[in-house]
Amino acid sequence: MENLQEHSQFAIDASYVIAAFLFIYGLKRMSSPVTARSGIVVAGWGMLLAALASFLYVFGIDEAARPHLQTNVVLAAVALGIGTVWAWWSGRRVAMTAMPQMVALYNGMGGGAAAAIAAVELLRPGVEHGIAVLLFTVSGALIGAVALSGSLIAWAKLDGRINKAWRMGGQQVLNGLVFLATLVIGLWIVFFAGGHAPPAVVAAFFIGALVFGVLVTMPIGGADMPVVISLYNAFTGLAVGFEGYVLQNPALMIAGMVVGSAGTLLTLLMAKAMNRSVANVIFSNFGAAGDEGSGDVQGTQKPAEASDAAINMRYASKVIIAPGYGLAVAQAQHKLYEFVQLLVAEGVEVKFAIHPVAGRMPGHMNVLLAEAGVPYDMIYDLEDINAEFKEADVAVVIGANDTVNPAARTNKSSPIYGMPILNVDQARQVYVIKRGQGKGYSGVENELFYADNTNMVYGDAQKVMVEMIQAVKSLEE
Ligand code: TAP
Repeated sequence: MENLQEHSQFAIDASYVIAAFLFIYGLKRMSSPVTARSGIVVAGWGMLLAALASFLYVFGIDEAARPHLQTNVVLAAVALGIGTVWAWWSGRRVAMTAMPQMVALYNGMGGGAAAAIAAVELLRPGVEHGIAVLLFTVSGALIGAVALSGSLIAWAKLDGRINKAWRMGGQQVLNGLVFLATLVIGLWIVFFAGGHAPPAVVAAFFIGALVFGVLVTMPIGGADMPVVISLYNAFTGLAVGFEGYVLQNPALMIAGMVVGSAGTLLTLLMAKAMNRSVANVIFSNFGAAGDEGSGDVQGTQKPAEASDAAINMRYASKVIIAPGYGLAVAQAQHKLYEFVQLLVAEGVEVKFAIHPVAGRMPGHMNVLLAEAGVPYDMIYDLEDINAEFKEADVAVVIGANDTVNPAARTNKSSPIYGMPILNVDQARQVYVIKRGQGKGYSGVENELFYADNTNMVYGDAQKVMVEMIQAVKSLEE
């Protein structure tokens, strides 16, 4: 029997080491679009190995604890089965445009799982924990519960289920009080109750944390939701890492810390790409409906036919394309690339310019273009392409708005002032493809659409691309 226990412990430890290696190696591969897909698969294998290895603990358990074992293993297997089937099914059918809300939902589940582990530890009778373990348990519970309720609100907002910004006077004070009260209860559980607080107190602690997550997230505008989701993702990682310490489970600790640090870096990168601090994102209510300072622009927008724009591009020598969220909505990436291939065949130099926060999540545009088969060497980041717009005959903005708004460079009173933008306005001719005169995600009016060198091609991006393809093909006939 002892031999079996030793063997199973060795197998668990070895599996966790391999899983940790796979997580980190997978993450490394995700850093380039060429290897990102395989990186996800590698990290997924790591997760599967870690989950299965956890079941091996059954062989290391004492005789005394065995009666409960069978039920627990069955319950865990059923939960794992339901989760796997649901995630597989929903992951396969989710639309590219709905990806951010799916990430928010799954992220919330991670935070909730960490909080649930903490709840079990805090309510388990007869177990003595040291102060350090209790501090980790309560911190993980607090962060995990905030990540759960906050992520669910983020999901509901992105999914259009909550449309109100829900702001009121004294909001920050109320939030501060709720947080303080929750913190005090948490510290009481650790230092005065020694981890054996009455269930009602533990429940009050969790309710406080969940309410705080709701209160903090409700006033944040839709434009900032991707940053908030990334922040909660970092929270979830931290909470999982803390509970991994409590359970002395290295796989949870490593996975939690990898997610926590990656999420933190991503949050900082996104905030930087919008030239704002993370605190400004969380507390300024930017981008919520009814923002002031959306900026009126004088002048008129000049419409153009899709066919004229296409023919102009056919005879250009250099064209730069700036895609945005509208490309994803219209699912126009395949038609766009078909059009680009026609231009390239005629000797036009074509490049894609990607803004770091174009779309609704990091890498949104890169994923869309990769899906359509656009080669990676045609795709350029903002800092690598911005100097080239001056030399471009045509810049095409397709379903993008805030990321190409020159007010960010020129208008100090604009809410997006200081945000780095793609300098499409510096091209000789600009075509903007969008359905109408709607504003961007931030609700700010765009000066570019009224500029002398800009023409608007109104219509759904996919429909416009079909017309453009026909126009270029008709020249060859
Ligand atoms: P947006 O500013 O949201 O503009 C998208 C434009 O696409 C809209 O003006 C819309 O105009 C047009 N559109 C919508 N559906 C269309 C369709 N079917 N066909 C053609 N056009 C369509 O997009 P963006 O430039 O990509 O900017 C991203 C925004 O998200 C920024 O505000 C950014 O700060 C925010 N954000 C992004 C991230 C990440 S990580 N991506 C993170 C935080 C914040 P019409 O309605 O007139 O068609």
